[in-house]
Amino acid sequence: ISLGVVHSHALSSSSPSSESLKKTIIDKCEAFIQNNKSSSANNCQKIWSAFQQAFVGRDPCNVPMEAYDPLIHTVIQDPVCNRMLFWSKTKKIVHDFTEKRDCFLTLEDTLVGFIMNGLTWCGKEESNETFTTGCPGWTDCVNNTVRSFWNRASAAFADAACGDVTAMLNGSIATPFSPTSIFATIEVKRFKAAKVKSLSVVLVTKENKGTTCDDPSLQDLQKEIEPKLKYNCKAVPESKIQDCISHPDTACGACW
Ligand code: APR
Repeated sequence: ISLGVVHSHALSSSSPSSESLKKTIIDKCEAFIQNNKSSSANNCQKIWSAFQQAFVGRDPCNVPMEAYDPLIHTVIQDPVCNRMLFWSKTKKIVHDFTEKRDCFLTLEDTLVGFIMNGLTWCGKEESNETFTTGCPGWTDCVNNTVRSFWNRASAAFADAACGDVTAMLNGSIATPFSPTSIFATIEVKRFKAAKVKSLSVVLVTKENKGTTCDDPSLQDLQKEIEPKLKYNCKAVPESKIQDCISHPDTACGACW
């Protein structure tokens, strides 16, 4: 029996790690579609195949964001005007907040963001294998497999933005609008006044500490967006958002 197992592995075209990444992605894709019937036009096999062609056989430090264009074009995603929630340096609280409510949606609450959230992957030159360990880290090289994916997916999410958009920023750090963040370098630049009416910043603060809406970095943000796009900012204590997280029945409009 054990010889048979070894034999079948030797014959299979991809490694066990390739098979497990494929399975992880297809399983997450199908689970998402189960829970979000509006996504049911998507084909998880097609999504896998568009995804893997972006990086298989490539140097994992040389995958430009455009490599994911076929993936982005394969995914069918309805725009959700007025409910899009962008964020920077607030990963945990923003997702704890959106998890139990439908009034706001982050990239990670959409099909492609949900599938890839938490995963690491890469390929290797002259190999058809996929790897989930030993891949370059976020800052090891600019065009790494994972970072380019998030850049491309974020660009698509921002391109789809419409109506009133919200951004949850971190008021406990020196620069809530960090010039090197994906939010600053990719998303904000793609908000078009023809489609986006307003940008509302929710600045999450620890009681009476840290930065305020007058922070210079937020003034930079305001200068960055098109003049026709309305801007507003509100400092909201973290405890108020935590209350809303513990009480998912609270109307979203009452959270800030
Ligand atoms: N090392 C590892 N991971 C990183 C690093 C880093 N140096 N920088 C960013 N990341 C990954 C992490 O997973 C992190 O939680 O990107 C996530 C977001 O990084 P932030 O700096 O907190 O925020 P930002 O770069 O602005 O990206 C968030 O982009 O994904 C979109 O729509 C989403 O609006 C959101 C924004």
